[in-house]
Amino acid sequence: MLPPRSVSLVDRARESLPAEVFAYYAAGAGAQQTLAEQEQAWREIGLRPRVLQDVSLVSTEVSLLGDTVASPILIAPTALHGLAHPDGELATARGARKAGCRYVVSMRASRRLSSIAEESGPFWQQVYVLNDRGISDEVARRAAQVGATALVVTVDTPIVARKPAEIPALAWATGLLDVLDGRDPADPRLQQARDLGPPDLRRLHEVSGLPVVAKGVLRGDQALKCRDAGAAAVVVSTHGGRQLDGTITVPAALAEVVRTVGGEVEVYADGGVRTGGDVVRALALGARAVLIGRPVLWALAVGGAAGVHEYLRDFTADLSETLALAGCRSAADVGADLVEGPAS
Ligand SMILES: Cc1cc2nc3c(=O)[nH]c(=O)nc-3n(C[C@H](O)[C@H](O)[C@H](O)COP(=O)(O)O)c2cc1C
Repeated sequence: MLPPRSVSLVDRARESLPAEVFAYYAAGAGAQQTLAEQEQAWREIGLRPRVLQDVSLVSTEVSLLGDTVASPILIAPTALHGLAHPDGELATARGARKAGCRYVVSMRASRRLSSIAEESGPFWQQVYVLNDRGISDEVARRAAQVGATALVVTVDTPIVARKPAEIPALAWATGLLDVLDGRDPADPRLQQARDLGPPDLRRLHEVSGLPVVAKGVLRGDQALKCRDAGAAAVVVSTHGGRQLDGTITVPAALAEVVRTVGGEVEVYADGGVRTGGDVVRALALGARAVLIGRPVLWALAVGGAAGVHEYLRDFTADLSETLALAGCRSAADVGADLVEGPAS
């Protein structure tokens, strides 16, 4: 059971998780400036409601890469759910399925992909390009075989930024990282490929046959580069403030990316999205969907599969209410007029 609304989810998670695990999940990179600013960046955008609109029926459905999904709220890929709950990604997958939300499974998952896939229904697979490209390709192929409908290739991580709290020793000691398959985590072949480039996006598309979503762009010209390498969608993201610190904000970047490639590829956004109002802001700036990182980990830690389900159900209900109050009948009905800016 989730706590009453008066008790914050993050506080409950802090109480229930080992301190080093909470610190690892919560951390940002560098001086943590991007992390500190990310939630506020959405709140600074005022909403401009429509009135005298019939909102008797409100739908949160959206179409993503040709599939209709119940909600534009997706679970962002986050590593090592086994540190949050004994059932790890299996619990997350069950919660996501029950809530009708699309789950983007991290390549750093602590459970076998085939087992996660059995619980999740249709899912998207996140992939890091490693020095040993064969490992990344294998994950992409396996994901396609067990039912992934898209590959999310993370493009903002040629190296993993240092953080005040690194992966807890516990993770290695207990062999939680499935992708290692018994290999030594210090093996250079398992490190991020610093020469990650456009050919990787093309190859991952070819080996899997899946549409590729490039995750982690903050500029229009970089989104174009991803499109030219065959990406069908991009995620505007600062990796939750865990990679380059001191970046422009996601809402600012989102507007630029949508202006540049919005007509050609789908654009999603993540980082500090916490309320139905934040989702409406993102949709108004041209995103088709948003991804949610840390709060899902907190819900998993506090309540397992039921916690994830309740969190996503409540979040989608909040979105539905916000849409009605803003005078929108559906997520697709949200337009640029809903927010302040040059368009309004
Ligand atoms: C603990 C943690 C682990 C993450 N692991 C991954 C990962 O394996 N792959 C990836 O592409 N992004 C990863 N991310 C970034 C998320 O996908 C997402 O961009 C970010 O968490 C969104 O911000 P939010 O946590 O404020 O919602 C991770 C984020 C966190 C907090």
